[in-house]
Amino acid sequence: MVPFTVPAWLPLLLLLSFLVAVKKVMESKKRHPPGPPALPLIGNMHQLGKLAHQSLYQMSKKYGPVIRLKLGSVPLVVVSSPETAREILKVHDTDTCSRPKLLGTGNYSYNYLDIAFAPFGEYWREMRKISVLELFSNKRVQSFRFIREEEVDSLVESVSQSAASKSPVDLSEKLLFLTANVIWRVAFGGSFEENKCESGVFQEKVNEATSLMGCFAASDFFPCVGWIVDRITGLHGRLKKSAKEMDIFLQKTIDKHEGKKVEEGKEDIVDVLLKIEKQQKEQGSVTLTRSHIKAILMDVFIAGIDTAEITMVWALTELMRNPRVMKKVQAEIREVVGNKGKVSEDDLEKLAYLNMAVKETWRLHPPGPLLIPREVISPFKINGYNIYPKTRVQVNAWAIGRDPKVWKDPEEFLPERFAGSSIDFKGQHFELLPFGGGRRGCPGINMGNTLLQLALANLLYRFDWKLPDGMSKEDIDMEEAPGLTVHKKTHLELIPVSCI
Ligand code: HEM
Repeated sequence: MVPFTVPAWLPLLLLLSFLVAVKKVMESKKRHPPGPPALPLIGNMHQLGKLAHQSLYQMSKKYGPVIRLKLGSVPLVVVSSPETAREILKVHDTDTCSRPKLLGTGNYSYNYLDIAFAPFGEYWREMRKISVLELFSNKRVQSFRFIREEEVDSLVESVSQSAASKSPVDLSEKLLFLTANVIWRVAFGGSFEENKCESGVFQEKVNEATSLMGCFAASDFFPCVGWIVDRITGLHGRLKKSAKEMDIFLQKTIDKHEGKKVEEGKEDIVDVLLKIEKQQKEQGSVTLTRSHIKAILMDVFIAGIDTAEITMVWALTELMRNPRVMKKVQAEIREVVGNKGKVSEDDLEKLAYLNMAVKETWRLHPPGPLLIPREVISPFKINGYNIYPKTRVQVNAWAIGRDPKVWKDPEEFLPERFAGSSIDFKGQHFELLPFGGGRRGCPGINMGNTLLQLALANLLYRFDWKLPDGMSKEDIDMEEAPGLTVHKKTHLELIPVSCI
């Protein structure tokens, strides 16, 4: 009989098989959401493409409304239906209300940058309270009405000159100038024109900061080696320069406001913040520091300027592609306003069809298609899947706007779909989320919405619009440009024809 000897490697093999089996059981207990297979090290980064919201939309068609990916070492969960968005923004709002590390923050010596991305905590709570109660309250937004009206008048005036010479207007450029002027005056007082030199330079800095926001910093996803990659690609240098320039500019602006006497109701945002700082000092409870003031100003500029411009450009683009809708919107505005010469903010609530056309624009073109990433702070379940702390969560508002279970003929631009519907855009209806929702939702809804509706209404009241010679509506380019906010890739150029 041959003696039975156990090969030396067998116990090792058994142990390994046992460990693999245990790992599998543990993994299955974890019940992660489904998603595409990930590569070692980079995870699913290579599958996101330039327009991540579109790639994620395609993945959600295959894997369902809750999917999980990996960006380097960071788990990412993306939800793409109204029900799952509600779970994140309402049911698990507190579990997911932090912001992840963005753009390698923490690696720079500018405290205000870390605060601007505001992870959940005392700082953020305080800032949110100031934003909602002091900066963007209805009363405050009303106090800036004269700024919106003056700037829209000046836009109409400049478009009239192009109409007189029958030359095309670059609306992407003009509307960005409008929103930048308004936000500049709201935040810093004075006028963009008065401060042309300074504000022009500042606008360049904001553009650079906004474009940086759309970049992926390797240090956010590869904690050990990412910082080397960011240095090699030059991203670190760009960020450092941008942060320093912004800091110097904001400091100078705050210094100029200090000690300035301002009438109640005429304050700009810097005045309001300095007043709160002073009150807190008097009460001995300082929570608002200079870094906070700078962080709030940064947020206002980055979040407030291009979002309203993007909405107006896509709205006008869709109207040019849909002449029936264009006619109906113009007829409504001209009937309501009559021969008053211009649309005022009081008229806006009577313009129901314009309001529907704006909602329809946001359904198809939410300016921030994936909102701003959230970070999980306590574990929870969604659709039976476990979600763990430190997971990034994104809501694909772009995909929700195209969900055929919610919207009939989702690719059609049909404002009438909102007639008699209660769906609004303020974060309570998860089918339409241009401003996000929950505690991280946009605090500037009234400010943004009033400005863009006023500008659109006046442009549509005062002018008819033609495509440049030789172009038909089928030639209009609908391509999106990559970024955290999604612009129309090519500028919208149209010829205005004066109507009154
Ligand atoms: C059409 C105009 C606008 C749109 C579509 C828009 C959209 C958004 C979205 C999608 C978010 C992220 C919400 C989330 O993650 O749930 C956001 C956040 C924010 N928005 Fe707006 N926004 C607009 C105008 C403005 C304006 C005019 C301001 C200020 C002047 C502003 C200030 C902010 C701030 C400070 C945040 C960060 C909130 C936080 O993290 O707590 N936005 N906005």
